Amino acid sequence: MTNVSHPAPQVSQNEAVDIAARHFGISGSIAPLDSERDRNFKLTASDHSLWILKIVNASEPLVESEFQTALLDHLERNSPYLAVPRIKKTLQGASLAHAKGPGGEDHAVRLVSWRPGRPLAESQATPALLESLGGALGRLDHALQGFIHPGALRSFDWDIRRAGAARQRLHHIDDNQDRALLERFLDHFDAEVAPNLPALRAQVIHNDANDWNVLVDPERPELVAGLIDFGDALHSVLIAEVAVACAYAILDAEDPIGAAARLAAGFHAEYPLREEELDLLFDLIAMRLVTSVTLSAARRDRTGGNPYLSISEAPAWRLLHRLDRMNRHFATAILRKACGFEAAAGARAVTGWITANRARLAPILDRHPATLAKALVPYGDPQNPMTVTSAAQQPDKATAWWNAYCAEHGVALGIGPWGEARTVYTSDIFQSRFVEGARRANHLGLDLFMAAGTRLYTPLAAIVRSVEVEEDPLGYGCLVALEHTPPGCPSFVTLWGHMAHEAGRRLKAGDRLEAGALVGEMGTPTENGGWAPHLHFQISTDTSLAASDILGVGEERYLDVWKELFPDAAELAGIPPETFRQSGRSRPQIVAARKASLLPNLSISYSEPIKFVRGEGAWLIDDRGRAYLDCFNNVCHLGHAHPDVVEAIARQAAKLNTNTRYLHDAIVTYAERLTATLPAGLSVASFACSGSEANSLMLRMARTHTGRGEAIVLDWAYHGTTQELIELSPYKYKRKGGKGRPAHVFEATIPDSYRAPAEWPVDEHAKRFAESVAEQIADMARQGRAPGLFLAESIPSVAGQVFLPDGYLGEVYAMVRAAGGICAADEVQVGFGRVGSHWWAFETQGVTPDIVTMGKPIGNGHPMAALVTTSEIAASFDNGMEYFNTFGGNPVSCAAGLAVLDVIERDGLRRNALEIGDYLMARFKALQDRYDIIGDVRGQGLFLGIELVEDRKSKAPATRLARRVNDGVRARGVLIGTEGPYDNVLKMRPPMIFSRANADHLAGVLDEAMAAVLAEGA
Ligand SMILES: Cc1ncc(COP(=O)(O)O)c(C=O)c1O
Repeated sequence: MTNVSHPAPQVSQNEAVDIAARHFGISGSIAPLDSERDRNFKLTASDHSLWILKIVNASEPLVESEFQTALLDHLERNSPYLAVPRIKKTLQGASLAHAKGPGGEDHAVRLVSWRPGRPLAESQATPALLESLGGALGRLDHALQGFIHPGALRSFDWDIRRAGAARQRLHHIDDNQDRALLERFLDHFDAEVAPNLPALRAQVIHNDANDWNVLVDPERPELVAGLIDFGDALHSVLIAEVAVACAYAILDAEDPIGAAARLAAGFHAEYPLREEELDLLFDLIAMRLVTSVTLSAARRDRTGGNPYLSISEAPAWRLLHRLDRMNRHFATAILRKACGFEAAAGARAVTGWITANRARLAPILDRHPATLAKALVPYGDPQNPMTVTSAAQQPDKATAWWNAYCAEHGVALGIGPWGEARTVYTSDIFQSRFVEGARRANHLGLDLFMAAGTRLYTPLAAIVRSVEVEEDPLGYGCLVALEHTPPGCPSFVTLWGHMAHEAGRRLKAGDRLEAGALVGEMGTPTENGGWAPHLHFQISTDTSLAASDILGVGEERYLDVWKELFPDAAELAGIPPETFRQSGRSRPQIVAARKASLLPNLSISYSEPIKFVRGEGAWLIDDRGRAYLDCFNNVCHLGHAHPDVVEAIARQAAKLNTNTRYLHDAIVTYAERLTATLPAGLSVASFACSGSEANSLMLRMARTHTGRGEAIVLDWAYHGTTQELIELSPYKYKRKGGKGRPAHVFEATIPDSYRAPAEWPVDEHAKRFAESVAEQIADMARQGRAPGLFLAESIPSVAGQVFLPDGYLGEVYAMVRAAGGICAADEVQVGFGRVGSHWWAFETQGVTPDIVTMGKPIGNGHPMAALVTTSEIAASFDNGMEYFNTFGGNPVSCAAGLAVLDVIERDGLRRNALEIGDYLMARFKALQDRYDIIGDVRGQGLFLGIELVEDRKSKAPATRLARRVNDGVRARGVLIGTEGPYDNVLKMRPPMIFSRANADHLAGVLDEAMAAVLAEGA
């Protein structure tokens, strides 16, 4: 090993000139250069070429000199493009010469080319230059990969693996605090770093890319022009190369870790680093500085001070103090991220898992936050009174402002988003430890603002990590940390700040909480650190951090790093992304645009229209991130955006879509599958694009088959939007804009048992109501006419969810058929298993129609419709005129239809409809027991109605009340409708996937809305 105290060679300038000429055949002028151990001269040859003549310290073992020359030879041979010194061979062709010193010692002598450039020490260490330096070192070490020499296996103080030896020099440090600082790094090194070093990649490295050994291109100061001085090269851990370079390059940097990250990224781009190397980089940088300051102190004590040795001592101490204040996990996260790794190992798997499982998480609040009307809390606006009063630690004023805002705008839940830049963080604790002069101002949690006392539940099973109370003003107050380890997901921690102290008394570290278990309550300002009541909810993917170390507010510059270390907890809390980002036009803009460019007849639901942007299962999500439970829209039969249907449509659309004049499997397969759900005899299918088209086709068939245009319909029925169907729809022709009943249409009474004359025995309702049909047939007969068609929904919907009395259709079909007519069942609303007990609602009446029409739920939102009839009617319709429907029965529609049938069968959705329907009926009947306004509840499967009356005896329809309940239900985030001739029936057709929890939600909201409407009075 080199003896560092051995004096540098005593060689004069004249002797140096002589050595150059004698050994290398180069004559010229010579000037001495600074050197720690050797004697170096700059040699300007007569041909103006520049060289460095190095007279090596006599104490340096020859093998080490030979190692250096072998290294340079290796680079010259294998990587001639690298900007490193080149060896000048001796006149005898050797790489090394030998010269005697004045005392007779033998010195190895080397002549290498002078590298032009300005030392990094005298250059501006811009990020680009640091990246270039990293790149240069990466290329160098890549070139040295596989190179080895006995002299490389040296052991000396600058080998980072020996950095722990600095402990023996600690007594040279006079200042107690400085010594304690070094001890902290040394302790960590011994415990956590040194044991991991043997497993890291090792090779020959330069090991001394200090800022005097790095040369910068003066013309292009963002580029490194050369690396010099291989005197410290050795075989060591590869990452030491980066650590050493960083230790010098980042001294006095505004953002030392950011600077190191650029350097590491430059290296990584040329020579990929590994995660386990980057994980130690922060400490290795620090340990290089620890080595440097302790060696300097030791030598100062020994030699009385050598300016070269202590040249970088003061900045090294400054940097050590800064590094000591930093959290090494955060610093490492920055370094990892800069090289394209996750900020913390497993971070992306955690967020991926949460995204994939978000629908299964337990709600964090009593009512799922997605369902609440939300608004962003104005902490992003420095002028806002709530921000100003919060920053001034006046939580009561901030709360009052927020409560008034919520009351005015109907907001139930305030949201403080992840990443928001805020001015409320005024105290000194928010000064950045990474970036000089910067503050931490960007929120890294998710804030949920509700009243103090709001109960909070864990979305996943958890073990309590810690419960503590932070007393600092504007701190967390009561702070709970939970650790979650869901199967298939790396562990992560959730932080619950600003809680009531009650949680601290109830929970202790190690407690297990099941998903949905109470964590605690939102604290009052006296308990929560002095804030308007809210929860600071945060994820940490680094589970090794203590709760108080988790960074709640971070530097804007490193948001991309914090995003992985402390990902946005919105998804875990069940807050839809639309809460934070709106797209497209505002609601008023769309209303105005509709007025300007759409038919004015298009109505809009609700006096305050809703803009929906996404559907998911039973939920519709509006443009402000509020999820509404959709209990009305029976098109989304399997739930909105059902993945199987979406996939089937996408797959087929990507392959082929064309009309029915070409052969395709899908249309025949679908026809077979559909007709198989129907009674025998209904065996011929035809496809269309809307319920109206299917009914129109049905009408043509009836007319062709019977030769008659006369039809009997039920009062208040609706069958479609074309002129001929409006004529069959009393709901249309009898109301505003209608022209009244056409002469060929005959109306039978709605067979509404609830409103049947009191004197009718219940078991005669079918017969008695059927008499109205008999009267229509008799009426026709008096006019010399006869029915061609009887058309009815199997459960009249627009008429108010009217369930036909048992046996009604049997009576009616018999009469109509006896008079030569055919019977059609409109199953556009009620079909496809909605009634649960059967595929088709007519089956509940024990009849088989001659034609069945279907629409709405058939494609789960894809516009399609169908008609199924008998082969006899199909044959008579085949009168020579082609039936062609451009889009009807196309492969994409059939794929959608098949997927719907598959899912109903695979997922047992008819059984679900029956069970949940029965449950809802029981809940509604319980409501009826409590609310006199409920005159009747009726339903089968998931087709349900609640009829509201002023008075149960008179059954006077409570039309206004029904509208107010409907509005109240909507205000509470649930969609239902009102229907019936008096518009007093609450109508519900939830999707077939409706769960018991959904049913409870609906029943609970109905209860609340009715109570509220009744409490308000008339
Ligand atoms: C019972 C019934 N039949 C037919 C139709 C017409 O269907 P579409 O709007 O798809 O043309 C409707 C539409 O509301 C309907 O409710």
